[in-house]
Amino acid sequence: MALLYGAKQILGKMAAVATTVRTDRQLARSTEVEILTPARPLQTIRLNAAFAPLVSPLPPSCLETPSMMSMAERQFLFGLANRYYAGKGIIVDAGIFLGASTRCFGEGFRSNPHRQEIIGKWPQPIVSYERAIVNPNMPDFFERHGLAFSAAQGESFESELRRNIAPVEDLVDLRIGDFMDATDIECPVEILFLDILKTPALSLRAFQRFHSKLIPGRSLVVHQDYFFEELPWIKTHQEALADYFEFVGEIGSSAVFLCTKQIPQGVLDGLENDVPPAEQLRLASIAMQRSADPARRFFMALSKVRLIRKLQGRVAARAYLELIKTEFPEQVAQTDNRRLVYALRRAEAFLARKPKKAPREGMRAAEQRGPPPLAGGNP
Ligand SMILES: C[S@@+](CC[C@H](N)C(=O)[O-])C[C@H]1O[C@@H](n2cnc3c(N)ncnc32)[C@H](O)[C@@H]1O
Repeated sequence: MALLYGAKQILGKMAAVATTVRTDRQLARSTEVEILTPARPLQTIRLNAAFAPLVSPLPPSCLETPSMMSMAERQFLFGLANRYYAGKGIIVDAGIFLGASTRCFGEGFRSNPHRQEIIGKWPQPIVSYERAIVNPNMPDFFERHGLAFSAAQGESFESELRRNIAPVEDLVDLRIGDFMDATDIECPVEILFLDILKTPALSLRAFQRFHSKLIPGRSLVVHQDYFFEELPWIKTHQEALADYFEFVGEIGSSAVFLCTKQIPQGVLDGLENDVPPAEQLRLASIAMQRSADPARRFFMALSKVRLIRKLQGRVAARAYLELIKTEFPEQVAQTDNRRLVYALRRAEAFLARKPKKAPREGMRAAEQRGPPPLAGGNP
């Protein structure tokens, strides 16, 4: 059943992807390529023309590992390792769950035309981070994806993760354990895929660990949770560094940024001292406008509700949520769209709850979130 579903997704997406590449060639002078499927939130792909052709069909083996990513996001990761990655630095894959992203990177790299040369420089060009401990929603994910593997909350899923990435294990430096305790890397990072920023502390640590290693004009940061309706600190941290990046697109719930200037470690260390509240709100508004997709902007507004509650309290956050409902009438009216309904319901529930400590809040909101309520979205 899962196989059949996967095959249907491949066929559907291959058609969409072909459109992306063709459109890119036809509109050589344009800077963006868009695929509009307005009835499906997060399905619009908008990428700078240089990156759009990277979203292309991928080998079925890349789909063997169940994932919370959309098909297009997997295709993009494969394309990055296959046709973008030049070996100027390593690929970092942080928060890999069962290993789907690492598998896409690894398989993409296998047919990278410069692989021999790159391997000479970086014998294990992919560094992957994962704690591999089952959280409360994972058993349900295992079951819904029909996995033979199962484990209870608190148990390890390392064996299943290793099994999934076995075909590319020679390329991967797998770092199992708490990311907060991981040792730093010393080399440049050319591709940084982040799906681990589930708490403000994790986000800060990742920014401080990796962002000074980015190569201006070359390195890409892919934030898998950027257009997710929670985790406001990701938007704050990334947008606080806007001077060092160019936004190059949106795909699934991911936002893609190209590093354009060396980021001094001092600037990253400064993030720790918290950005002033008014500035955080301004950055959240900038982040919201990154997307051309009204559904993504709706999610970003819901993310800002969480920030407002933290900075200004529940009354202000409630007032902002009511404003959102008037500003996004089409999204609110789509009561048959489970993804939109889910996002709004989560925001309402968040405001109804008593405030919790920030780190646990973030953890519960996303890191422990379940798999996508709709195929192709995240969560
Ligand atoms: C949303 S999931 C990643 C989903 C994955 N990208 C996919 O497509 O299936 C986030 C992952 O981050 C991991 N994680 C969360 N906090 C972590 C930490 N402190 N150290 C290491 N891994 C962590 C979780 O175990 C989880 O597998």
